[in-house]
Amino acid sequence: MKILVTGGAGFIGSHVVDKYIADGHSVDICDNLSTGKMENVNKAARFFNADVCSGEFKSLVLSEKYDAINHHAAQISVVESTRNPLKDAQTNILGLLNVLCAAAESGSVRNFIFVSSGGAVYGDKPNLPIPETELPMPLSPYAISKLAGEHYVRALCSDAKINYTTLRYSNVFGPRQDPHGEAGVVAIFSKLMISGQTPKIFGDGSAVRDYVYVKDVAEVNRLALASPANREVNVSTAEGTSVNRLFAIMAEIMSFDKKPNYLPKRPGEVDRSIIDNACLRKIFNFKPHYTIIEGLRETIHYFKMELGN
Ligand SMILES: NC(=O)c1ccc[n+]([C@@H]2O[C@H](COP(=O)([O-])OP(=O)(O)OC[C@H]3O[C@@H](n4cnc5c(N)ncnc54)[C@H](O)[C@@H]3O)[C@@H](O)[C@H]2O)c1
Repeated sequence: MKILVTGGAGFIGSHVVDKYIADGHSVDICDNLSTGKMENVNKAARFFNADVCSGEFKSLVLSEKYDAINHHAAQISVVESTRNPLKDAQTNILGLLNVLCAAAESGSVRNFIFVSSGGAVYGDKPNLPIPETELPMPLSPYAISKLAGEHYVRALCSDAKINYTTLRYSNVFGPRQDPHGEAGVVAIFSKLMISGQTPKIFGDGSAVRDYVYVKDVAEVNRLALASPANREVNVSTAEGTSVNRLFAIMAEIMSFDKKPNYLPKRPGEVDRSIIDNACLRKIFNFKPHYTIIEGLRETIHYFKMELGN
């Protein structure tokens, strides 16, 4: 298949590109390198430095006649979205619309994969793990733009007779992760602990998240390419890990013997977020292969290499 991956120079998108290339697909990447890096770009892919909001992007899609588009490019920071909701909507809503309209107009795209956020769109829910049937209650401009995107994808893809899958990721971690991203804690802790510095924990460390390893996420993108779900699907482990437990596992892997610094809890942070994955298991017959310990081992190894340790 001929596939365009937007955001393919970023953390998760680059792993998806690697997976598609390993499967023998022909892959183009479009990324404006706002947070992505050229060193993440697979050498077997063609790279286009363009903004998904631009006319240049649309011309690319119209001329290249892709079979599938996998849309990972986004403004990814919740904090930035609250500071500048317009900029968030520019990329996450208008940019997405440019991608969708180009896909529809091209007449060649038969499969569209959109990435949303299970950690954000549901809001703060008491009953965990959260299934797709739960009413989303987005609390930040980022969560709102992702949820709006889901609706645009559903409506415009069905109008244009394009199969689609919307993947609602929980907290993704792994090699190439940027500390500033949505779930940057693993990258932040790794870099500090490898260089012998003490990480900060905001609150008492009991906050729970559902950490899914990036290679499992890339595998789900492979499955969605092979058989689109035409619906929203959570991508998660359905298991919660507290920040204290995360720190303890990482400390053990690295033989790190300092205690973390506890600071006051930051306002607006959800206490517990665990996302159900029954649909993922049923629709794609897939459940994440990596345990959190295995994923953390590989991630720490990667950051050690990166830091020359
Ligand atoms: N990291 C997580 O835990 C997580 C969780 C839920 C959803 N997501 C979603 O997954 C996707 C990838 O996130 P990531 O964590 O890999 O972040 P990332 O910042 O590494 O990747 C985003 C990529 O998009 C590119 N980009 C941004 N704006 C662009 C634009 N206007 N035009 C072209 N390229 C642009 C960036 O340069 C970057 O390479 C995003 O859609 C994000 O919202 C991530």
